Amino acid sequence: MARKFNFSAGPSTLPLSVLQGLQNSMVEHDNAGMSLIEASHRSKQYDAVHNRTIELLGELLSVPATHQILLLGGGATLQFAMVPMNFLPQGASCDLAHSGAWAKKALGDAKKVGNVRLAFDGSAADFMTLPLQEELSLDPKAAYFHLTSNETIGGVQWKEFPDSGDVPIVADMSSDIMSRPFSFDKFGLIYAGAQKNLGPAGVTVVIIRKDMLDRCPDSLPAYLNYKTHAESNSLYNTPPVFSINAMRLVLEWVKAEGGLAEFDDRSRAKSALLYDTIEHSDGFYTNPVDPRFRSTMNVVFRMSSEELEKQFISQATAAGLDGLKGHRSVGGCRASIYNAMPMEGVEALAQFMREFAKNNR
Ligand SMILES: Cc1ncc(COP(=O)(O)O)c(C=O)c1O
Repeated sequence: MARKFNFSAGPSTLPLSVLQGLQNSMVEHDNAGMSLIEASHRSKQYDAVHNRTIELLGELLSVPATHQILLLGGGATLQFAMVPMNFLPQGASCDLAHSGAWAKKALGDAKKVGNVRLAFDGSAADFMTLPLQEELSLDPKAAYFHLTSNETIGGVQWKEFPDSGDVPIVADMSSDIMSRPFSFDKFGLIYAGAQKNLGPAGVTVVIIRKDMLDRCPDSLPAYLNYKTHAESNSLYNTPPVFSINAMRLVLEWVKAEGGLAEFDDRSRAKSALLYDTIEHSDGFYTNPVDPRFRSTMNVVFRMSSEELEKQFISQATAAGLDGLKGHRSVGGCRASIYNAMPMEGVEALAQFMREFAKNNR
């Protein structure tokens, strides 16, 4: 098989060694006489996979003892609801940075549960920029402050996380977790669907500051309460065992490749190559994002007409560069360059972009 370079935003490319690891253990895992997806989630084999996955997340992300790692279902989307259901009681209010399409979804669900104030509203700038600390309007009494660390559709990314005083930050890190180191000090909770930097879809990583668990109301249905999962080491119900095992293999790969510092360097180099290609195209390609907040994960670009973009996408696909169509809500092009996208793939795309521009001016 000639593997394509897959620039899809999620589900997205995975390391070949991970796919082969899954293939090798598909019929029989760990000499158990059965595969892992047939084994009980209370079995010794699965227990080792489950705990190793949590251990690797903790090690690679430098999760401090103050925080607990949970593995949940429902995607990052369920977190849009679970966060306010657990932490936004009646009469309280939370802050939210409205940075684009994904923040809008978090905002929509939070508003159904309680009061939400916008600490930042990017709508006037068409969500092409993010605030500096002094541009944020933070309520010191807010129950929490929600931000989206990387807007997968718009291609904007927080470079430094703000100081919110005693107000815990809740962050949707779905599309840039495991791409750069950060400190957990400010975070009450972070969450991420797996299908970008962590593995296939089906599992959602939640990392919660343990004292936040005291705020979760007992009135919530069991699955929707973080306490339920924290008390049962994320084994309250049947976990998505295939996705968790795949994530374990991805995390072993991240570790073997050098961990977060290495992937931070790689992401900067890969995204810089694409932004340079755009900048040096004499206006053939444009990126609308404030240069201070350009994403290292999702590089968006446009051309002078939709017709040209269509041709670009179809010729790139034919050349083995897949998944470059922008999100259906915004159009244009988008190259998602998560950890498993090698520099070689980004170089091939940059080369293709230069040639396409030369031939279509
Ligand atoms: C930043 C961000 N948040 C949330 C989601 C929703 O994730 P899920 O599809 O896992 O519910 C996505 C999906 O792409 C995303 O990119």
